[in-house]
Amino acid sequence: MFRPSATRRCNRLNRGRTRTRRARRSGMCRVGSEFALSPWRRSSCQPVSSAEKEPEIMRYLSILLTVAVLLSSACDKEEAQPTAEPTAPTTAAPTSSKADETSEHGSPHAGIDIDDPQSCKGCHGTIYEEWTESMHSRAHHDNDPIYGSMRALRMKKQGEHIAEKCAKCHNARSPDQPDTVAGKAGVSCATCHNVAAVESAPGKVGVDALTWEEGNVMRSSRDLEPGASPVHGTGKALPAMQDGVTLCMSCHNATKTPTGAPACTTGPEFREHGGDETCVSCHMPEVEGPAGAVGRQDKHASHQFLGPHRAWYQNDKSILESAVAMSAAFGDDGLTVTLANKSVHGFPSGFPGRLAVVKVVGKDKDGEVVWQNFTDNPMAEHPDSVLNKVYHDANGKPVPAPFSKKMVRDTRLGPDETRMVTYEVPANVASAEIKLIYRLLPPKLAKLLEIDDRVEATPKVIATTSAER
Ligand code: HEC
Ligand code: HEC
Ligand code: HEC
Ligand code: HEC
Ligand code: HEC
Repeated sequence: MFRPSATRRCNRLNRGRTRTRRARRSGMCRVGSEFALSPWRRSSCQPVSSAEKEPEIMRYLSILLTVAVLLSSACDKEEAQPTAEPTAPTTAAPTSSKADETSEHGSPHAGIDIDDPQSCKGCHGTIYEEWTESMHSRAHHDNDPIYGSMRALRMKKQGEHIAEKCAKCHNARSPDQPDTVAGKAGVSCATCHNVAAVESAPGKVGVDALTWEEGNVMRSSRDLEPGASPVHGTGKALPAMQDGVTLCMSCHNATKTPTGAPACTTGPEFREHGGDETCVSCHMPEVEGPAGAVGRQDKHASHQFLGPHRAWYQNDKSILESAVAMSAAFGDDGLTVTLANKSVHGFPSGFPGRLAVVKVVGKDKDGEVVWQNFTDNPMAEHPDSVLNKVYHDANGKPVPAPFSKKMVRDTRLGPDETRMVTYEVPANVASAEIKLIYRLLPPKLAKLLEIDDRVEATPKVIATTSAER
C-alpha cells in the first residue's frame, strides 16, 4: 500500500488527538517549494523559505498581531475567541506583510472574500502553502500547460462553447467568468469548504453536483461551533467530506468523450476495488504540524493533494513510486516481470493520456547490452510493455480521446491487478535491468499540444528492479 519514501518521513510525535478514520497515512512532510516550471506559475509561488528565515519571535508576534487585528474587526468579539492560541511556531507563519494583505480582506461585517485563497493565509497558512503546490491550485487554464493547451485545441476544433464544460470542474466557483479571482483560483478552498450538499447523480459533475452554503460558511469534516471563526461562518460537519469520497467524486468520478467512450474513470475503478480506503486517506494524508495560526495544533490533513504532478513540480516521486510493486525473475520461458497495482484505482488513473512503459535491458555475462524489449517505439516493438489507453477516430487512426470515436485499447493495470509479462530473451542474456517509466502524456500528444519542449513532456522512472539468470 501507499508508503511515502523514507526521505519524506517526519519524526512521528504521536501526541494529541487521535483520529477514528482507519487507514490514515502518516508521515508525509511538506516539501520545500521548488517551482521548476516558471511562466505558468510565477505569480502564485510563495516560497516557504522566506518565512522560515524570519526570527522566531517576529513570527510569533506577527501571528498574534494578525489574529488580534482580525478579531477586533469581527462582529461579535465575545463569541469570536479563537479556539486555539496561535502560539506554536508554524513552518509557514504569516509575515507581517502577508498579515497586512490578509486584514485588507476582512471588513467588519462582510468578513473575508472566501473565493480568494490568499485571504485564508493569515490563519490557515500551512494549508494555504500546501494547496498552492497542488494541481487544484493550478486547475485554471493559465496555470496548467497540459490542460490549458488541450482546452485551447478543443475550443478550436469543437467550438468555443466547449470551455463552459471544462469550467464546471476546473473553476467551479466562477464557471461563467473563468478569469476572475474566483475562477483563477481553480479548485479553491471555497470550492470544497463552502459546499452545503453534493448530489451524486449521473451526468451531474462539478458545479452542477454542488450546492453552496449561503454566505461565507466554511464546513469541514467535523462539527464547528457557531462563531468558532471570527471572519467566516462555520457549521456542522459535511457528510460528503467526512466520508472522504463523495465530495471528491463530484469531479473525479467519470467522464466520457463526446461519442460516449470512457475517458477519466477513477470513480468506477475505485468502486470496483471496494474496501474502506478513501480518496482522502491516500491523497490528503495526516501530517505533523499545525495547519496554520489557528486550529488543531499537532497534525493536519495535507492539502498538497498528492498526485503524479509532484514528480515534475516538487521533484517528489513518492506517490508515483508507491503505485506499483515491480519484480522480475528468469524462468524456463524467459524473463517474467511482475507488476502489482498498489493504488485502489487503475494505474495510471485519471487523464486518459497518462501512460507507463516497462523497459527491459538484457546484458551478457560481461555486462554488455545484448538485448532490449524496444529501442525507440514501445507501442510498435513491444505493445505489451505499455500500460495505456488508445482511442481511434472513424478511420481507425489513433487520436486523443476527445476527438475519438471509440476506445480500442486499455492495458492499464486494474485495481488489485497483478500482471505478469514474459519476455523471450536470447540465451546469452545473463542479467536484466528493468525500469518502469511514467509519462503525463505521450510524446505525440505533447507535440500536438506544442508543449513537447516543456518539463511536463519528460519521462520519470518510478520503479526499478533487476534479475540474474
Ligand atoms: C482570522 C483568522 C481566519 C481566517 C482569515 C480564516 N479562518 Fe478559517 N477558521 C478560523 C478559526 C478560528 C477556525 C476555527 C478553528 C477551530 O475551531 O479549530 C476556522 C475554521 C475553519 C475551517 C474548519 C477547520 C477544521 O478544523 O475543521 C475551515 C475549513 C476554514 N476555517 C476555512 C477557511 C478558509 C477557506 C478561509 C479563507 C477563505 C479561512 N478559513 C479564513 C479562522 C480563520
Ligand atoms: C467532471 C469534471 C471535469 C470536467 C467537466 C473537465 N475536467 Fe479536465 N480534469 C478533471 C479532473 C478531475 C482532472 C485530473 C485528472 C483526472 O483525475 O482525470 C482533469 C485533468 C485534465 C487534464 C490533464 C491536465 C494535466 O495537467 O495533466 C486535461 C488536459 C483536461 N482535464 C482537459 C479538460 C478539458 C479541455 C475540459 C473541457 C472540455 C475538461 N478537462 C473538463 C475534471 C474535469
Ligand atoms: C491506496 C491509496 C489510494 C487511494 C485510496 C486512492 N488513490 Fe488516487 N492515486 C494513488 C496513487 C498511488 C496514484 C498514482 C498512480 C496513478 O496515477 O494511478 C494515484 C493517482 C490519482 C490521481 C491522478 C490521476 C491522473 O490523472 O494523473 C487522481 C486524480 C486520483 N488518484 C484520485 C483519487 C480519488 C478521487 C480517489 C477516491 C475515489 C483515490 N484517488 C483513491 C493512490 C490512491
Ligand atoms: C478538493 C477539496 C478541498 C480543497 C480545495 C481545500 N480543502 Fe480543506 N479540507 C478538505 C477535506 C476533505 C478536509 C478534511 C480532511 C480530513 O477529514 O482529514 C479539509 C480540511 C481542512 C481544514 C481542517 C484541517 C485539519 O486537519 O485540521 C482546514 C483548516 C482547511 N481544510 C482549510 C482549507 C483552506 C484554507 C483551503 C485553501 C487554501 C482548503 N482547505 C482547500 C478538502 C479541501
Ligand atoms: C470541483 C472539482 C473537484 C473536486 C471537488 C475535487 N477535485 Fe481533485 N482535481 C480537480 C481537477 C480539475 C484536477 C486537475 C487539475 C489540472 O490538472 O489542471 C484535480 C486533480 C486532482 C489530483 C491530481 C494531482 C496530480 O498531481 O495530478 C488529485 C490527487 C486530486 N485531484 C484529488 C482530489 C481529492 C482527494 C478530492 C476530494 C477531497 C478532490 N480531488 C476533489 C477537480 C476536483
